[in-house]
Amino acid sequence: MENRKINLWDKTFKPYIPAEKLEKAIDAVAEKVNADFANCEDIPIVLCVLNGAIMFTGELMQRFTFPCELVSIKLSSYQGTQSTGTVLNILGLTADVRGRRVIICEDIVDTGNTITALKELLVAKGSSDVRICTMLLKPDVYKKPDKLDYVGMEIPNAFIVGHGLDYNELGRTGKDIYVIDND
Ligand code: IMP
Repeated sequence: MENRKINLWDKTFKPYIPAEKLEKAIDAVAEKVNADFANCEDIPIVLCVLNGAIMFTGELMQRFTFPCELVSIKLSSYQGTQSTGTVLNILGLTADVRGRRVIICEDIVDTGNTITALKELLVAKGSSDVRICTMLLKPDVYKKPDKLDYVGMEIPNAFIVGHGLDYNELGRTGKDIYVIDND
C-alpha cells in the first residue's frame, strides 16, 4: 500500500487497510458462504447494494462455487461523512424475490439502518430467507437486533473511503482503504 495521503473535496485521508488484508477477509467470508450454500437446490439471489458494494460483490462472486443470480438495488443513507438516518430507495428491486433466498452484499454496516430497511423490504416482498454479508462492520455504532451472518472485518468508528466506499461520490477507486485524517 502506498504510504501517501489523498485529498477528496475538502478532506484528507490517510492509508488504513491494505488490499492484501481485505483480500484475506474476503477469502474467509466467501469460504463461509460457500460452505453454507454448498449443494443448495435453489438458486439464491446475491443482492448487491449499489454503489458501495460493487467491488466487494464482484470479488465475492469470483469466489462463489454455488449457482446464484446477481441482482442490484441502489440505496442511500449517507450525506458527506454522516448517516442521515433515512434510507432512500433510489433504484428499486429488479427481481421477484418471492420464495427466494437472498444474500445481501454490503460494503459497510454502520448504524445498520440500510440493511435493516432492506431486510424488512425483502421479507415484505416474500423472500424465504435473508442473510447479510458485509465486508466491514463498525460494531461500536451498530446496535440493531438483526444478526450479521457474514462479516469480513470489524473497524472502529471512523469515516473511510476506497475499495468502493466514497466521500460524496469520490474515493471509490483503488483496492486499499483510507481513513479520514483529523490531524
Ligand atoms: P448504515 O445505514 O448507517 O449502516 O450505513 C451504511 C451505508 O452508509 C453504507 O452502505 C455506506 O454507503 C455508507 N457508509 C457508512 N459508513 C461509511 C464510511 O465510513 N465511509 C463511506 N461510506 C460509509
